[in-house]
Amino acid sequence: MVSVNQHRIPRKRTYLMCSPEHFAVAYAINPWMDVTTPVDAVLAVKQWDRLRETLLGLGHDVHLLTPEAGLPDMVFAANGAFVVDGTVYGARFKHEQRAAEAAAHRAFYEERGWHFIAPNETNEGEGDFAYLPEAHGGLVLAGHGFRTELPAHAEAQEALGRPVVSLHLVDPRFYHLDVALASIDDGNIVYYPGAFSAASQRVLAQLFPDAIVADDVDALAFGLNLVSDGANVVLNSEASRLAGKLKAAGYTPVPVELTEVRKGGGSVKCCIAELRN
Ligand code: ARG
Repeated sequence: MVSVNQHRIPRKRTYLMCSPEHFAVAYAINPWMDVTTPVDAVLAVKQWDRLRETLLGLGHDVHLLTPEAGLPDMVFAANGAFVVDGTVYGARFKHEQRAAEAAAHRAFYEERGWHFIAPNETNEGEGDFAYLPEAHGGLVLAGHGFRTELPAHAEAQEALGRPVVSLHLVDPRFYHLDVALASIDDGNIVYYPGAFSAASQRVLAQLFPDAIVADDVDALAFGLNLVSDGANVVLNSEASRLAGKLKAAGYTPVPVELTEVRKGGGSVKCCIAELRN
């Protein structure tokens, strides 16, 4: 049971981010994207910088990927790969518009000597994969339904040597796992049940009886698209009710404003990949 005022201990993380210098809503590949909505590019960079500084301020390391012109979604660094214990399972994007991002991520890891495994199956990295090192000895949660395809779950299991639990996403507004579910510490999650099929909701309830459950208002405010170090939870400032629930469970919510990249259909977690050594 989660008790009020439980003491949470942060663990130092290493993250990868990519500046939104070239960010734009140039095409629409998820229901949040509207190519007629104006984007303030200067503000986008400013808000992203504040997110980066927030992570540094919490004591984490942040590596940077060089943004490329013509790849307006590259700011969503979470989608480029999925890393567990030094092994990198590469991404293969569903949509042509983002396909070239995979090579930039691959080069980042290969130049630094990471063990990189190229995928044959369509998958969007940490957008659809989450890792819980202390759950059942190390568990991968994986989403399918919109972007990552089911065969990639089996491929990830073979690449990473960790059991992969497949979860079916059924609401197009929650087209990636990381807009519907997040790890809040090494063994527990927060999620929005309505994003998942009835059977997948049952699986989550069975695996994570102490999970924090978010409501539709917080979920639609991108509240689940958060990054936690086990104690500090960086999340979209609009998800105020979820922040209250996290606080009651002993976590420290750290709200950030990301109004511009949100127009691309992402928030905090989408901008951050975790490099797990
Ligand atoms: N516009 C991007 C897309 O639709 C947003 C990606 C958000 N990233 C994420 N990890 N959920 O692909």
